[in-house]
Amino acid sequence: MSELLDVRGLTVSFKGVPVVDAIDFSVPAGGSLGIVGESGSGKSMTSLAIMGLLPKGAGRAGSITFGGQDLAELSDRRMRAVRGDRIAMVFQDPLSSLNPYYTVGAQIAEAYRAHRPGVSRRAARAAAVEAMERVHIREAGRRVDDYPHQFSGGMRQRVMIAMALSAEPELIIADEPTTALDVTVQAQILDLLTEVRRDTGAALVLITHDLAVVSEVADELVVMRKGKVVEAGTTERVFSDPRHPYTRALLDAVPRIDDSIGALRTTGGGE
Ligand SMILES: Nc1ncnc2c1ncn2[C@@H]1O[C@H](COP(=O)(O)OP(=O)(O)O)[C@@H](O)[C@H]1O
Ligand SMILES: [Mg+2]
Repeated sequence: MSELLDVRGLTVSFKGVPVVDAIDFSVPAGGSLGIVGESGSGKSMTSLAIMGLLPKGAGRAGSITFGGQDLAELSDRRMRAVRGDRIAMVFQDPLSSLNPYYTVGAQIAEAYRAHRPGVSRRAARAAAVEAMERVHIREAGRRVDDYPHQFSGGMRQRVMIAMALSAEPELIIADEPTTALDVTVQAQILDLLTEVRRDTGAALVLITHDLAVVSEVADELVVMRKGKVVEAGTTERVFSDPRHPYTRALLDAVPRIDDSIGALRTTGGGE
């Protein structure tokens, strides 16, 4: 099987009520998949199920195969190893994932050392600076000693991506990574994720409620609604020929450049 991640019949339920309902999708090594759907459609529960981090009380059924291994059959210890070394996650709110009392550099260095036992503090610090440069944080040599609150939202998300990369993961799951950011910064973070994927060969699962976000980044799309996959296909096909009314409604909500130009023309904007 050439798929890196293969999800079959995944169901997540609370008190017997499914919030993710028998969904299927797969991601090839180095590939990219967008999971799109409105708030509450089960996207985060899907990603937490893959990571083995579902909240207490959540029931799970179906199979999640990663690199040919059924993750459900791994012991907690081996699952922790997969999570640390092979699958990395980037969340919506980097501030809550960073410790406010430690410098950003110390936290990246810590993540780096966690994957390389025996590496000296000095080498880890140098690696942290390098990791910050790689995600295009300017003056990394100086900023490595700054605290999370001294960074903008976009820069904090770059730090989280640097930490995710420290394990050299085969898969990055980014759950609404740009939702808290303004549009210009969103585009920069999406460019960075695309660049990272190209340079490292890691596969990417990008989760978002915003179809505009996935259009440039994901090769394949899964559209979720109320825990079910209502549409799946290449991003190109879903955008050019959406088959489910819900996908069409999501697409109608995406602002298009030609629409803005049209609006400018009709209002005589730009003099
Ligand atoms: N701990 C929980 N107990 C019961 N229901 C939950 C719990 N966590 C999430 N849910 C429900 O699961 C559904 C899917 O949530 P989620 O995966 O977070 O949606 P999304 O990420 O698409 O916005 C929601 O209806 C949510 O209310
Ligand atoms: Mg969510």
